[in-house]
This record gives sequence, C-alpha cells and structure tokens, in this order.
Amino acid sequence: MKPSLEIADLKEVARRRVPRMFFDYADSGAWTESTYRANEEDFAKIKFRQRVLVDMTNRSLESTMIGEKVSMPVALAPTGLTGMQHADGEMLAAQAAEEFGVPFTLSTMSICSIEDVASVTKKPFWFQLYVMRDKDFVLNLIDRAKAAKCSALVLTLDLQILGQRHKDIRNGLSAPPKLTLLNMLDMAIRPRWCFAMLGTKRRTFGNIVGHAKGVGDMSSLSSWTAEQFDPQLSWKDVEWIKQRWGGKLILKGILDAEDARLAAATGADAIIVSNHGGRQLDGAPSSISVLPEIVEAVGDRIEVHVDGGIRSGQDVLKALCLGAKGTHIGRPFLYGLGAGGKDGVTLALSIIRKELDVTLALCGKRLITDAGPELLYKPAAKTE
Ligand SMILES: Cc1cc2nc3c(=O)[nH]c(=O)nc-3n(C[C@H](O)[C@H](O)[C@H](O)COP(=O)(O)O)c2cc1C
Repeated sequence: MKPSLEIADLKEVARRRVPRMFFDYADSGAWTESTYRANEEDFAKIKFRQRVLVDMTNRSLESTMIGEKVSMPVALAPTGLTGMQHADGEMLAAQAAEEFGVPFTLSTMSICSIEDVASVTKKPFWFQLYVMRDKDFVLNLIDRAKAAKCSALVLTLDLQILGQRHKDIRNGLSAPPKLTLLNMLDMAIRPRWCFAMLGTKRRTFGNIVGHAKGVGDMSSLSSWTAEQFDPQLSWKDVEWIKQRWGGKLILKGILDAEDARLAAATGADAIIVSNHGGRQLDGAPSSISVLPEIVEAVGDRIEVHVDGGIRSGQDVLKALCLGAKGTHIGRPFLYGLGAGGKDGVTLALSIIRKELDVTLALCGKRLITDAGPELLYKPAAKTE
C-alpha cells in the first residue's frame, strides 16, 4: 500500500476500512454541505510570503493553549461516536494526543466514557459538554468531568437543535449499527474493523447509558438523545455552568463578532470560532473567513481559537497568522483513527507537525509564537 503522506491519504484508507455509515457520518455536512466545503476552500485562497536567507536553525512549534503547554497549537476537537470509527477510538486518540503533547477533547456523545478515557491517560484531557434538558444529568456530567480531573470544559453553543445531514438519514445511522442485511454486508467486507469491535464492550454512548434517567436500552437511547438537546439554552446558562465547573471554560461555536463580545463578557477563558465543521447551519461562512473580524472584536480580551477545514499544517499556520492562539482538528484525526487506530492518529498529527514546521521555516520564522499577519501574502495595490 502507498504510504500516507497527507491527511487526504488517511481519508482514503479510512474510507476503505470504516463501515460506510460511520465514514459518512464523519465526511458530511448539513444540507447542501456548502459550509462544509467552504471551510476547506477558503483556506486554499490564503497565500504565504516566501522569505529567503533567514537562519532556520533551532525552530520550535511549542506554544500554549489556555495556559497549557502544547507541543504544537493543535487540539483534537470533540467528535461524537469516535469509538465507531475504530474500537475504543476515544481511548486510543486520547493516548495518541497525550504522547504527542496536544490536548484531547472528549465529546458528551462519545462511545468511551469519561472514566474510560481517564483510566488510560495520565495527563488531564478536556471535556466537551452538550447541555441537555435533563439538568440533573448535566450537573452529573460536570461533576464526573471534575472527578476525572479534566483541565477544561468545552461548552458547545451551536447545537441547540440538530442540523440535518442527509447521509446519516439515508444510512440509518445508529450506534451500534442495526443488523440489517445491507449493514451486515457492509461490515463483512471490513473484517479488521469487525474483529476490533468484537473485542470491546464499548459500542454505545458511554457517557449516557447508565447515567441518564430512563435510558436503559438502545431503543430508548435513540429517542432520548434526539429529544434531549436543550432548545432554550441561553447566555444565562453559561453562568451557572461556569460556577458549577469552577475551572477553565472554553465556549465553542462562535461565528459572529456580536456573539463573540457576549462570549467574552461571560469571563470564559477562550472561544472557538467554529461552525461545527459545516454540520449545523449550512450557508454560514467558513470559520477562517470570519476569524479576523472576531479577533478584531475580542482578541484583546479572550483567547481566540478556530476549527473547521484544517487539513494540513499549512492551514494551522494560516489560522495562527490571522490571530488564532490555537486550532482544533476534527476529521483529520478521525480519518487517522479509522485508517490505523492509535498509530493513525499519531500519523495524522505527525503529518500536520511536519507541514507546519517546514512552512514556518520557508516563511522565514523559527518560532511558532512569532507567527503573525506579516507571513501572509498581500498583492501590492495596482497603480494606473
Ligand atoms: C463526526 C463528527 C462528530 C462531531 N461531534 C461533535 C460533538 O459531539 N461535539 C461538538 O462540540 N462538536 C462535534 N463536532 C464538531 C467538531 O468538534 C469540530 O467543530 C469540527 O469537526 C471541526 O471541523 P473539521 O472536522 O473540518 O476539523 C463533530 C464533528 C465531526 C466531524
């Protein structure tokens, strides 16, 4: 098999190895997928300034995100059903991130539970919270994240109701998959995935089953999750969540300068400029296109991160040059996981690190913390 040299290679291997329902779940956006595509396309429009004859020795990608040291400013974003891309996926990805020196964020909608991930890691990870109508369940999740010594709570604001992703409906997405003839045939041609999955007990939502009231079996679980996202979530809720949590708080899903100002006023530690990877409001602008105006609005008051469409170390550098202090990747690590488990996640991170390092050097900088707008190419204004 040809070596995987870029994230697109890992995506193709994952496409072959992961059952279609779960590969499609990762590789999809809402409705026409226009925002999903724009996230990637808008990065490609940004160009670098090539600089020469600058000393390139002693380079470093080390930085900090919310005060935590990172080997490069790239965190793994929270993604639901990660344990369906590969058996025990969240535990493997968390271990890969820990060894690499970057943050891992566990989703509320994960397959492996908070306690599962805590049991296989030594350093604190981050926990992403969805606010459900069942407030006892939410309080309990926050307390469990505290007990597991998570070092940040990532509160997702852009999923009060679920955006429609056509592929998931057409594929009948569920965890575990329903044993229809089509699904069984699809799994049968991916024996590697099946054997790994047979070797684990973790095949449904680990943070929910056994913790939320009235969710005992699979049939009640699917209706519970569909009904549970709280459509009344408001800025007031951020207050009590912040108080109950008492630690570092990151607000995820900001795409508008006005919302960014409201977010900064909550006293949170960081915001993530994000459109949920194009999975919620189709037709919204790409994350990278709105980053500069959000940095301009609140960059002096709160740490600004960005996610959506990052597929290379070059994209990471572009985001940093436009004022992000940190970046988050979703699909790139999921493709790595689907392609090769923990080693695949490490490979995805290594690919991004190498691209980031070489690009930084060719732009004439040695320290990632020195990346700024002067690294980006702006065509000279035409004179008549
Ligand atoms: C398969 C998948 C599942 C996701 N699940 C969640 C989730 O449970 N919680 C959340 O806050 N964001 C979730 N997201 C959004 C990611 O955290 C992140 O915003 C997005 O993936 C970034 O875009 P990228 O995939 O282009 O890097 C999910 C994204 C994907 C692709």
